[in-house]
Amino acid sequence: MSTNVTSADTSVHPPRPYQSYTYAYPHKTAYRELASESRPAPRLADLWAGESRQALSLYLHIPFCEVRCGFCNLFTRIGAPDGLTGRYLDALQRQAAAVREALGDARPPRFANAAFGGGTPTFLEAAELERLCDIAEREMGVDLRAVPLSVEASPSTATADRLAVLAERGATRLSLGVQSFVEEEARAAVRPQHRSDVEAALTRIREAAVPVLNIDLIYGIDGQTAASWRYSLDAALAWRPEEIYLYPLYIRPLTGLGRHTDPQAADRDWDGQRLRRYREGRDHLLSHGYEQVSMRMFRRSDAPPQGPDDYACQTDGMIGLGCGARSYTSRLHYSFDYAVSMREIRGIIDDYTTTEDFSHALHGRWVDEDEARRRHLLQSLLQAEGLPVAEYRLRFASDPYEDFPVELDLLAARGWLDSDRADRLRLSAEGLAHSDAIGPDFFSPAVRDAMAAYETK
Ligand SMILES: C[S@@+](CC[C@H](N)C(=O)[O-])C[C@H]1O[C@@H](n2cnc3c(N)ncnc32)[C@H](O)[C@@H]1O
Ligand code: SF4
Repeated sequence: MSTNVTSADTSVHPPRPYQSYTYAYPHKTAYRELASESRPAPRLADLWAGESRQALSLYLHIPFCEVRCGFCNLFTRIGAPDGLTGRYLDALQRQAAAVREALGDARPPRFANAAFGGGTPTFLEAAELERLCDIAEREMGVDLRAVPLSVEASPSTATADRLAVLAERGATRLSLGVQSFVEEEARAAVRPQHRSDVEAALTRIREAAVPVLNIDLIYGIDGQTAASWRYSLDAALAWRPEEIYLYPLYIRPLTGLGRHTDPQAADRDWDGQRLRRYREGRDHLLSHGYEQVSMRMFRRSDAPPQGPDDYACQTDGMIGLGCGARSYTSRLHYSFDYAVSMREIRGIIDDYTTTEDFSHALHGRWVDEDEARRRHLLQSLLQAEGLPVAEYRLRFASDPYEDFPVELDLLAARGWLDSDRADRLRLSAEGLAHSDAIGPDFFSPAVRDAMAAYETK
């Protein structure tokens, strides 16, 4: 039986449930340097020339945190010595100006939503957050008060003055990483934080009156039990957050936890434990007035409507600024170099802050018609609503059952497809629970090979 993403698992026996979080396809580990001996790096002006720019997403990445949590493999570094945040914002401004110039004035971009992610965007001080908003508005031309604006924060950096700036500039969603309301669990995840600090941050966020509060929680932490998981869920529910994300813990190479654990040795007991916590968490939230949007995301049924989920937009057209941010055109997904180890990340950020010429895409992956189909299918199928078959037919002039017969038969054989609706391809409840096993089955051989060949650094 296959336990990794390098070969399709065609047995009807369930594969390991926690293989890969498919929030973006192709994964960044399948990106490569775009320039070669035969081909120079593509110019942004050429890449964007024929692209629709009516409903773009804007993403600004802030790669700084106060600590490096033991589970985290996101592109971020600890602290920012010697005015690094100022130099980073200078570079962000140069990059924004270059992207805006590449888009040209004939068809100015229109943005459907914006997000500040990280790392921890609220690591920036209030005046720096003002500047970040100015860059988005003045350089990119987005009206932050007119579109949904989502911002990630950690408890200790969600200070009243920073939240006030964000609320005033138009933030509609504030996502707080809590992970666990139990201090021993936070410590076990190498996320040192006091419960009282978390509660104080939640009070400040509610006082700032940002319309949507999201709370991130993690299950599968060492020492976590059904009772302590329920305790964290109830502590989150006490705030009636508009959204809650439940993340299964992943232990990845080169992270703090990964250095002390063999990630390949993640055993079936742990799989079973995470599946139990998932089901308990899902059922608890469903019985408290929440709807399931995807395996990880739950939304309070009476929450104000928001724009599309940041990570779940099937359409192309994302402009990412900052190192660590991805950009998507219909033909190319691109970013800067990617790393997990602190030393490599520091080097990439230093290079970024000294870059003057942002007119070319350096790292990425070309997305052909076959990859576009896979991407469209994955990003719809892994949502609770599923894939409207007519939408797929309209975009690709083909049928998903003809394009992916083996993969879809396998899902049906495992009982992971909901057969109620002929007009929609939708996962069953157990299918949704196994989203992280389903995603990899739809990766193309070329993407699997590239991911397998990627050397974590
Ligand atoms: C950018 S952080 C959120 C904001 C802020 N940096 C913080 O941690 O408070 C993204 C979220 O991804 C989740 N996450 C990251 N790595 C994870 C892992 N290895 N396993 C489970 N969840 C993870 C965490 O819940 C985390 O809050
Ligand atoms: S989980 Fe959040 S605070 Fe912790 S290292 Fe990752 S991005 Fe930073």
